[in-house]
Amino acid sequence: MGARSYSLIRWPEHADDRLHIAVQAEPEGTGGSKAMHALEAGGEIALSDPKNSFALQDTPKPIALIAGGIGVTPLISMATELQEQGRDFAFHYTGRSAAIMAYRAELQGAFGDNVTCYYDDAKPADLAALAETLKGHALYICGPRGMIDAMRSAAEIAGVPADDVHVELFTTPDAVGSETAFEVELASSNEVVTVAADQTIIEALEAAGHDVLYDCQRGDCGICQVDVLAGEPDHRDVVLSEAEKASGKVMQICVSRAKSARLVLDM
Ligand code: FES
Repeated sequence: MGARSYSLIRWPEHADDRLHIAVQAEPEGTGGSKAMHALEAGGEIALSDPKNSFALQDTPKPIALIAGGIGVTPLISMATELQEQGRDFAFHYTGRSAAIMAYRAELQGAFGDNVTCYYDDAKPADLAALAETLKGHALYICGPRGMIDAMRSAAEIAGVPADDVHVELFTTPDAVGSETAFEVELASSNEVVTVAADQTIIEALEAAGHDVLYDCQRGDCGICQVDVLAGEPDHRDVVLSEAEKASGKVMQICVSRAKSARLVLDM
């Protein structure tokens, strides 16, 4: 199994020195869940130091934590921190069905009335109505791409400033094998680099000897953004607004690819 990232979970009652993670079992998936669920007590795995690319920002505004599915995990730690600080926060948790939503009962036990759950099959979330109630809040959203896009769009329509909307994407990259290769031309040198079907643009540039600035490599931090001078990007990130994506003038090169045979990037 290659490297995988998991959110560390901290509950109010956890006072031990263990690290807690949750891995949703996906028997048909291409990710690492099968390997993780096959681990046995006493087995050894290599860990790198924790890093936080989805930290709570310093703001006096009340906080709204909005989770989709197993994207709930990093928000549990945030809720614990907010509760310990005595801060005002709301925790909205959406999922397909109550029976398969991890930590639902534990959340309500730990954070009480701060938690509201929504179930697609019984009591679905009305994101537009929810966004209206969250004006004046700072939003932290974690879940699959479709849920993040829908919530961001609802927040934008409700008038929540973009600076108050923080997101973390909770999916594995698209399956290798369904992608096609394309070329990237660097405008500063006219060098052309081929991005293979199983490579990201960042991986192809690094293999060609270029230093590239990036962080999350999931399409949610915005660090790797570059200007597109020609060609049509295939956006896979959750950083850009729909208008920015439609303009085709910028892209996140860690996850996004190309619909055209070549992209000319301002680098
Ligand atoms: S490295 Fe974070 S969006 Fe690309």
